[in-house]
Amino acid sequence: MTETHVEAPSLYPPDPEFAANANATEALYDEAEADRLAFWAKQANRLSWDTPFTEVLDWSDAPFAKWFVGGRLNVAYNCVDRHVEAGIGDRVAIHWEGEPVGDARDITYSELKDEVCRAANTLAGLGLKSGDRVAIYMPMVPEAIVAMLACARLGAMHSVVFAGFSASALRARIEDAQATLVITSDGQFRRGKAAPLKAGVDEAIESLGDDNPVRHVLVVRRTGMDVPWTDGRDVWWDDTVSNASAEHTPEAFDSEQPLFLLYTSGTTGKPKGIMHTSGGYLTQASYTHLNVFDIKPESDVYWCTADIGWVTGHTYIAYGPLSNGATQVVYEGTPASPDEHRHFQVIEKYGVTVYYTAPTVVRTFMKWGRELAFGHDLSSLRLLGSVGEPINPEAWRWYRLVFGGDQTPVVDTWWQTETGAAMISPLPGVTTCKPGSAMRPLPGISAKIVDDDGNELAPSPDYGEHVTGYLVLDKPWPSMLRGIWGDEERFRETYWSRFAEQGWYFAGDGARYGTNGEIWVLGRIDDVMNVSGHRISTAEVESALVGHAGVAEAAVVGATDEHTGQGICAFVILKAHHADMSRDQMIDELRAEVAREISPIAKPREIHVVPELPKTRSGKIMRRLLRDVAEGRELGDTSTLLDPSVFEAIRASK
Ligand code: WTA
Repeated sequence: MTETHVEAPSLYPPDPEFAANANATEALYDEAEADRLAFWAKQANRLSWDTPFTEVLDWSDAPFAKWFVGGRLNVAYNCVDRHVEAGIGDRVAIHWEGEPVGDARDITYSELKDEVCRAANTLAGLGLKSGDRVAIYMPMVPEAIVAMLACARLGAMHSVVFAGFSASALRARIEDAQATLVITSDGQFRRGKAAPLKAGVDEAIESLGDDNPVRHVLVVRRTGMDVPWTDGRDVWWDDTVSNASAEHTPEAFDSEQPLFLLYTSGTTGKPKGIMHTSGGYLTQASYTHLNVFDIKPESDVYWCTADIGWVTGHTYIAYGPLSNGATQVVYEGTPASPDEHRHFQVIEKYGVTVYYTAPTVVRTFMKWGRELAFGHDLSSLRLLGSVGEPINPEAWRWYRLVFGGDQTPVVDTWWQTETGAAMISPLPGVTTCKPGSAMRPLPGISAKIVDDDGNELAPSPDYGEHVTGYLVLDKPWPSMLRGIWGDEERFRETYWSRFAEQGWYFAGDGARYGTNGEIWVLGRIDDVMNVSGHRISTAEVESALVGHAGVAEAAVVGATDEHTGQGICAFVILKAHHADMSRDQMIDELRAEVAREISPIAKPREIHVVPELPKTRSGKIMRRLLRDVAEGRELGDTSTLLDPSVFEAIRASK
């Protein structure tokens, strides 16, 4: 693979004053280099273990890792109780900011501990046991985090389902995990309006019919709207958790006790339940949060703008910050509610010092213009982070200039649901950054860029043509996924078969080395799209489209999009008897169908009704060519097409 760049990147060395006070120094790399496992043992020992581990890593059953073997701990105890015991119970854990202006609440570590204990007692009373699965389908309210921690406290696994997902997506996740409990809210605020949520849970459960595994639904009152109710099954949080005892003794679980499932898109239509466990996950979540974001728990006000429905919300809202005893802002709404000033107002209100967001959010602010930011006092910010997709150099520089007064470090963190925590990222007091590059693996982490045969690539020049390859992780890491729920074969096949001989993890991303050996991640090389930092597979959207009675065939590709990174472009062939419906009506209906089946975030940006799809002689759809069409490029090689003339027809229908 080759690619051309025209511009040499500028260099941003760390500010000397920042470097002098930074948590992480160059010595961290040396230490990890000298003895990787001893390094991880030291990081693990920042946590509180009920029983110390006897072995750092057991990789004898690869690709199934065991980290901190023999150790026992309670994850929730590590996130709340131990801070209270250490005397910082009065510190604010969460500055919660609701979407409606003025709806705000501060929660200290003591209060959080009490609420987690009450919830744990309630969940135990509802019959929840260690190893059970709980679906959490909630907006960004403190109870969502409490629910996650209460599950962790009991050794039950949570499966958080993004509240923007449809009832049908929720149903699939409940069914796959066989969740016995669903925790939800009556509704959620979206751009000033209350939208139902509990109703979707009922719909999901009903559609499971006799196979429904759900015994109880625990409901938080958020909007006050009416909800459908099933006596005996449904219980209010207010009637149960709020009245429960705040005394709960945490039980210590094995380091490899499953902690959570988080479903993510793969190359087929069926989402994968990525499984994470306790000791290793919490170790790396805590270590990376402390060092990448340079967290000073006693003085920083940290804000990660992700939703707990994604892995970033798990690791850098729930587990990382809380394990470090940090103070953070949790905000319920979008950047534009009620208007474009909201994020800046929140930063001012709480004196946010560390702000972690996605490139798509940065580009949205760029679109709104820098004057907006310049009208606010953002001087409290001292570090900025980015995650979810490659950040284009222009957005990186704009972010640092407008949010960071051209002074703060910007850490571009590469990682995945599967990796559990940050893997490739600058250390803010050490690394000289090139805008757009995630730079190098963190201390303790090992990654390589290789060609088809597994040979490591050479560094490319900064501009001109360079060679790209595959990003692999060549050594196990503590927060690595431990499998795909119920599908060992898919786990081996997806991540471990491409470089089976070498025993490397295949990340599915293309990348190249820059002149200094830094890593430039270029994006997915499989059929997974990245829309505003959300992973959506082409197959999922195709299956939603062909699920509509009027569609005979569908092909979906991700095309470059200035704002969302990639935009979803669908090509559909309609069944003959639907030809009478107006094209626009049909397109509207199909977009609605995708929103119903998956989520509004998966709605195609464009849908083209075409008479035929480009296929190879073996019947495979040639997505590469459709991508050329969607991005308005000259067509690439069409020689393997069964019928090259289909493009005339496709072009004509655009
Ligand atoms: C992409 C999100 C470039 C990448 C934490 C990866 C990135 C996928 C970056 C994982 C980054 C994430 N630079 N690409 N800093 N961060 N990605 O599972 O393609 O939602 O494989 O995890 O997002 O997305 P996921």
